Amino acid sequence: MEELICRERKGTGCAKWDNLSRNGFTRDDLCGLWVADMDFACPLSVRKAIADFADFGVFGYDSVPDGYYESFIRWQKERHGADIKKEWIRYSPGVVAAFNYLVQIFTEEGDAVIIQTPVYYPFMKAVTENGRKLVTNELVRRDGAYSIDLEDFEEKIRENGVKAFILCSPHNPVGRVWTREELEGMLSVCARYDVFVIADEIHQDFELTKKRQIPVLTLGDTLCRVAVLTAPSKTFNMAGLKNSIVQIPDETIRKRWDEYTGRLHVAQGNSIGYRAAAAAYTGGGQWLDQVLEVVRGNYELLKKILRENAPEAQLYPLEGTYLAWLDLGAYVREEELAPFLEDTCGLAFDYGKWFGGDSEGFVRVNLATEREKIEAAANALAAGIRAGSRA
Ligand SMILES: Cc1ncc(COP(=O)(O)O)c(C=O)c1O
Repeated sequence: MEELICRERKGTGCAKWDNLSRNGFTRDDLCGLWVADMDFACPLSVRKAIADFADFGVFGYDSVPDGYYESFIRWQKERHGADIKKEWIRYSPGVVAAFNYLVQIFTEEGDAVIIQTPVYYPFMKAVTENGRKLVTNELVRRDGAYSIDLEDFEEKIRENGVKAFILCSPHNPVGRVWTREELEGMLSVCARYDVFVIADEIHQDFELTKKRQIPVLTLGDTLCRVAVLTAPSKTFNMAGLKNSIVQIPDETIRKRWDEYTGRLHVAQGNSIGYRAAAAAYTGGGQWLDQVLEVVRGNYELLKKILRENAPEAQLYPLEGTYLAWLDLGAYVREEELAPFLEDTCGLAFDYGKWFGGDSEGFVRVNLATEREKIEAAANALAAGIRAGSRA
């Protein structure tokens, strides 16, 4: 089995560890466990494909390389039991770009778009910065777990004449893998009110428990108008290569996507991204399984250190994603959270308030790094909390 390599990324110009003060933190010298990429080098298959292509050395105009579609279709079938047809697949330079394009194509200015807060913050911007009306269906937090208030979801859709829904499945940041019943519940409401569904499944390959992630495109009969977004970027740690995948089963919807992306000349990606994606889906399975084991272990370690040192800190169950959702509200007031984490503990986590909804006192911790870093961060957090409790 190939070795899983964790890199020291400080000083490499990455967003996660370098120049943190440009990204909402007060200082640069923090332990970077925030933005969602990993500290692991990509699968060997990806590094080799890029090296071979670099060796070839001609990077002229290109067509989509052989094997790109087949590798993705095989991956979806083998990992998720989804039957994806080649003609459904489109390119996007990022999942964020894709959901912005879809909002622009399938809604008009002033139209209402619904999201489920707290949620990945670009969802909100995709609504507000495109001049659409933001409608939120707050996730329900009860007894240490999150669920969906389906009645509120339907009511908000009806009352506001909602035109589109951006679904996060699995959900970032709360870590839920939605059940079949939950997905069918939401999508059948959308079908009833003719709401266009933008399903962001970028974290679909991170199944941390026995609970399987259900691709929207396997739900068949309950299907409403939908475009499903995913990417090798999150799964194989290659976000910088800008190769994301849009799956659109409906021909009329595809046609509108094609007209739009054709007009902007963004319908095709760069030649390295395609080769890397094909190599990842073909040869990256065992590498991913190792990453999942590391993330599971990191989560358990964080849980143990918190249980022993800060029992009132609430760590939510991690079913999907590699991002732990943690409530520190019992120890630190919202106004004190940034100085506490940055100045006292030396940590850069995503702040809960970035995700909207009822997230005061929360942080999101990126677990996709080596065990030692998680241990050091958890100990720094525990020491800060213990010192604060004594004060
Ligand atoms: C739910 C979700 N969608 C999209 C993205 C980013 O996608 P991209 O880098 O392809 O724009 C992220 C990254 O964290 C994410 O969590």
